[in-house]
Amino acid sequence: MMRSILVTGGAGFIGSNFVAHWAATRPADRITVLDLLTYAGNRANLDGLDAELVVGDIRDEGLVASLLSDRGIDTIVHFAAESHVDRSILGPDAFIETNVIGTHALLKVARREWLEKKKPHRFHHVSTDEVYGTLGPNDPAFREDTPYAPNSPYSASKAASDHLVRAYHHTYGLDVTTSNCSNNYGPFHFPEKLIPLFIINALHGRALPIYGDGMQVRDWLHVEDHCRGIAAVIESGRPGQTYNIGGGAELPNLTVIDTLCAAMDKAFATDPSLGSRFPDAPAARGLPTAALKTFVTDRPGHDRRYAIDCSKAMAELGYAPTHSFESGFAATLAWYLANEHWWRGILDGSYLDWVRENYADRQAAQ
Ligand code: NAD
Ligand code: DAU
Repeated sequence: MMRSILVTGGAGFIGSNFVAHWAATRPADRITVLDLLTYAGNRANLDGLDAELVVGDIRDEGLVASLLSDRGIDTIVHFAAESHVDRSILGPDAFIETNVIGTHALLKVARREWLEKKKPHRFHHVSTDEVYGTLGPNDPAFREDTPYAPNSPYSASKAASDHLVRAYHHTYGLDVTTSNCSNNYGPFHFPEKLIPLFIINALHGRALPIYGDGMQVRDWLHVEDHCRGIAAVIESGRPGQTYNIGGGAELPNLTVIDTLCAAMDKAFATDPSLGSRFPDAPAARGLPTAALKTFVTDRPGHDRRYAIDCSKAMAELGYAPTHSFESGFAATLAWYLANEHWWRGILDGSYLDWVRENYADRQAAQ
């Protein structure tokens, strides 16, 4: 079946990887991206992809309605969100505006344009494992029926949006699916998140700020696996259902950071040109990247452990992650080394000023 698909937040990290995946695997479909190009959105993420970018706000109901009717859109894949936990702690309002009000605006328009006009449709909502709260070391992994217990303003806003999506199915009959996934990593990951921030800090010889004791556990999911999982839910998921998507790679932060430091040392040892490109990196002088590890004040309310049980998606959709963390991380580091122009474009903007103002104590950047 050919689709006309609207990808909200498609100029962000996961959204742009999803557009690339969908365009490559469903070339007959028409892809429209709706993105406000906030600090996290980047036109360059869509370079070379067969998709049209409309710059606008998901809260703009008139704009969304005209996109749906003018382009015959039958599928919404909803990524647009404020996505960084630390920012939600510093200023929750934008998270309520985009994640809650914005999602509700999309649902209202979808109901008017699709249900009332009796058009076949699918609204897929992209959510997070953080809505389930935090796990103890021996607790079973999150399942789709794990009760919601969000702990940060970010996860509370995502939980609210999940509930609205569910309610629009239950009350009005909107054809919806939701996926809740674990920590993504891969190309185009914005350098405020752990992995890209630490890669770029290490290349500049800056401290690697480890929150608390560094023993928080995350389940790392390569973004390509996530995109394949979402595509499977859109095409084969049952209306009204939620599906957990994980990477099967539960690791404490310190293990991720040690992997990163060792891979950085190896990259510099193997490729002498890196030493001249990044002379401030310890590895440029044969010193261990791990010397940059710095323990800093913990994130307030920091969730200790996330883990995803994705057996439902495996059984119903044939989903399985294909990347191990080792191979996925190696490819990701190689991407950041080969795409310096991409992250320089971000660092040369106002982003670093914001980090300096808000994270002086965590030495996130200098
Ligand atoms: P991101 O911050 O990289 O991108 C968000 C995108 O949304 C940006 O392009 C931004 O410009 C756009 N946007 C923000 N407000 C908007 C608005 N009002 N109207 C239109 N566009 C707007 O986020 P990401 O990491 O790619 O996450 C995408 C989705 O996946 C989010 O819903 C997030 O909650 C969810 N998620 C992310 C992860 C992860 O590890 N990154 C894990 C689980 C779930
Ligand atoms: O679990 C899914 C979630 O993963 C998504 O819903 C969020 O959108 C996404 O940002 C991510 O949230 P986290 O808070 O887990 O990701 P982050 O990269 O911010 O942090 C990962 C871990 O590393 C976390 O335990 C906090 C820690 N950390 C993070 C940063 C930025 C540090 O120790 N130091 C840092 O500087």
